[in-house]
Amino acid sequence: MLRKILVPVDGSEPSWQALKYAAEIGVKFESELFVVHIIQPFYNAGLLALPIDSGLLTMQMDDIKKNAEAILAAAKEKLTPYSLKVTTKIETGHPSERILKTAEEAGCDAIVIGSRGLSGIAEFVLGSVSSNVSQYAKIPVLIVKSDKKTEK
Ligand SMILES: Nc1ncnc2c1ncn2[C@@H]1O[C@H](COP(=O)(O)OP(=O)(O)OP(=O)(O)O)[C@@H](O)[C@H]1O
Ligand SMILES: [Mg+2]
Repeated sequence: MLRKILVPVDGSEPSWQALKYAAEIGVKFESELFVVHIIQPFYNAGLLALPIDSGLLTMQMDDIKKNAEAILAAAKEKLTPYSLKVTTKIETGHPSERILKTAEEAGCDAIVIGSRGLSGIAEFVLGSVSSNVSQYAKIPVLIVKSDKKTEK
């Protein structure tokens, strides 16, 4: 139980709150944290239809990859005070589907996720990623409710 916890992070404040929560649980249960960031390829789908030079597109992909690497580097940095085994991974795909698949592939036995993420439209309690993950996961999901005061 809680041997390996999957923590999906999008770089948002709520996802850092979830990471902190997971770290505190992880220390108590001696769990490994598997921190994953999902790149959404369809961000560029509209651009692909435009007659732009491929250099521009490559530059965009480079920026997206750099952003993903920066998010995971920030996650590692935040976890340095905790005595935990940490693994980080960048995946590409539909975020909730990819999160569920990664949890299965990595043999995680729980997921700790933020209730909201980057978009932070206040009227919903859960974002679409946390909502889908909690709905379709076969393993326990802990949704960390974000502290309103820290939301943008
Ligand atoms: N691309 C991603 N990679 C990894 N984790 C993610 C990603 N997107 C969201 N998450 C995780 O899901 C949590 C909830 O984010 P979610 O995207 O559901 O909310 P939102 O951005 O406020 O709303 P929405 O994206 O539906 O407009 C985040 O705190 C984070 O833990
Ligand atoms: Mg989101």
